[in-house]
Formats: sequence, structure tokens, C-alpha cells
Amino acid sequence: MAVKKIASSPASLKAELKALEGEARRAAKKSYSPYSKFKVGAALKLSNGEVVTGTNVESVSYGLTLCAERSALVSAVSRFGPGIRVQAGAVANLNDGASPPCGACLQMLAEFIDGSAPIVFPAADGKRTMKFAELLPQAFGIKLK
Ligand code: THU
Repeated sequence: MAVKKIASSPASLKAELKALEGEARRAAKKSYSPYSKFKVGAALKLSNGEVVTGTNVESVSYGLTLCAERSALVSAVSRFGPGIRVQAGAVANLNDGASPPCGACLQMLAEFIDGSAPIVFPAADGKRTMKFAELLPQAFGIKLK
């Protein structure tokens, strides 16, 4: 798999994250969320240069609901295989609310992302960009012998 770098200058990184946010917002329009009515979208930029999106899919058995971020991640692995690496991520919602990626999504993303990868998301005080390791400083991991 050819590896493409994420933008290195602050200006082009900002532009890249803005484009990713647009993709996340487009994905949110496809949300299946009849119970919460909270429409979330996520976009992941992969090291192969591709952008993969996902949206939240709810179930009447509420606990089965799949978040937008995990939806994007399983789609990325399904399309490009187990070797994917996530270089950057964006989350958006159509409800003008805060929606940082939840703990379950962060833990699952941890398998495929470096701590330095930027994640942009709507926070309570507006749009925020944080490094993955700031969002999940102590990802669970096991070392198999
Ligand atoms: N949700 C996401 O899509 N991502 C998150 O990180 C947290 C929550 C969804 C799940 C549910 O469909 C709706 O938001 C309300 O909780």
C-alpha cells in the first residue's frame, strides 16, 4: 500500500482538516437515528490517501447502536484491509451540539492510529482539534507473547 503523508504545513493541514470535516458533515446526512435524532458523521483520512466516511446507525434495541466513527473505521478496514493507518479524523453532527468521539470509538480507533494524529470535532465551546493521544491518553493494550 502506497503511503501518502498528511499535509505538513499548518495552513495545508488546516485546509485538509476542513475538507475532512465537510466529508463528515455529508456523511451525517445519511444518519439512521430515529431514536435520538442526533445525526453524526465521521471521516477518516488514511495513509493510502483515501478518505472513508461513516454515520451512526441506531437500533430499537438501543445498545446495539453503532457510532459514526466506528462505522467509518469498519468500512475502512472492509475496503482496504487490516493494514490501514488513520492519519487524521473529523467528526460532525447536524444538531449543533458537541460530539467528541466516545470512549468506545477511541479505543477501537487506537488499533489503527498514531497518538499524534489530529482529530477535529464539535466541542461544547466550538470546533476543536486535538491529538488522538490527548483524547485517549491511556488506550488499553495487551502485549501477546
Ligand atoms: N454517537 C456517535 O455517532 N458517535 C459518538 O462518538 C457518540 C455518539 C451517536 C450514537 C447515537 O446514535 C447518537 O450519537 C446519540 O447518542
